[in-house]
Amino acid sequence: MDLGINGRTAIVCASSRGLGKACAMALAEAGVSIVLNGRDEKILTATANQIAKDTGVSITPVIADISTQEGQAKVLEVCPKPDILVNNNGGPPFKDFRELDREAMLDGVTMNMVTPIELIQKVVDNMIKQKFGRIINITSMSVKMPVPGLDLSSGARAGLTAFLAGVARTIADHNVTINNILPGFFDTDRLRGGLQSWAQNTGVSVEEVAKDRASKIPAKRFGMPDEFGKTCAFLCSAHAGYITGQSLLIDGGVYNSAF
Ligand SMILES: NC(=O)c1ccc[n+]([C@@H]2O[C@H](COP(=O)([O-])OP(=O)(O)OC[C@H]3O[C@@H](n4cnc5c(N)ncnc54)[C@H](OP(=O)(O)O)[C@@H]3O)[C@@H](O)[C@H]2O)c1
Repeated sequence: MDLGINGRTAIVCASSRGLGKACAMALAEAGVSIVLNGRDEKILTATANQIAKDTGVSITPVIADISTQEGQAKVLEVCPKPDILVNNNGGPPFKDFRELDREAMLDGVTMNMVTPIELIQKVVDNMIKQKFGRIINITSMSVKMPVPGLDLSSGARAGLTAFLAGVARTIADHNVTINNILPGFFDTDRLRGGLQSWAQNTGVSVEEVAKDRASKIPAKRFGMPDEFGKTCAFLCSAHAGYITGQSLLIDGGVYNSAF
């Protein structure tokens, strides 16, 4: 399917690895020029080269901590008027909620709620003016289904979802959409890191932990980043202008409900 976004430009935050990278790759395959972002220069450069080689589109890597005002300014400097914004960031580490001090809580809220809102504030008016804009927020299954130790992540992302639910309705008539994609368990460095810590703490091999975790997912496997990226690209497509204010769960059936 032609997504109808060939020649458009996208800022994909936190995109040197994992789900962000997959979104960048899928958008680039659709002919979208990409501003790629991450903090580690070596990994960012390698990913930029890979996507440019595979797709032939223009990739602009920007080394920046997207949670900071300076980082956001660096990204927007190279692309002040993107057609597409994919908000992504690291997530707070697993922690018992009793161990979170005020600073940790504010950091989590800055990372997963304030930062995407700030970026939207800076790009949305031009999207409205040009009558095209696609905004995607990578959030988490934990918004709908509590995950022990990820309470801060769940709370901040739920706050983002609620904040933008109203905003999305105020700009829908300009062909500017805002949607959230909620990953379940996707095979990325972040997931592998969690499996490794669990294996170390329990004295079981990483393979066994992974097998056990995957067996509890109705699809009996982890999600592949490529599947996530392609869903993101569709929601950014010309055809998705009537889909807004939605939270799309991609979790292989983990969230057990009829609606
Ligand atoms: N994978 C899953 O199953 C899953 C499930 C639920 C929710 N999520 C959420 O989805 C998001 C992406 O997860 P992932 O699995 O793709 O993680 P990942 O494999 O660890 O990749 C994270 C990416 O974000 C970049 N990044 C992190 N903090 C950044 C910052 N402050 N500024 C700029 N770039 C930053 C990293 O590059 P640098 O480290 O070089 O900056 C890397 O490119 C996270 O918020 C995660 O909590 C993931």
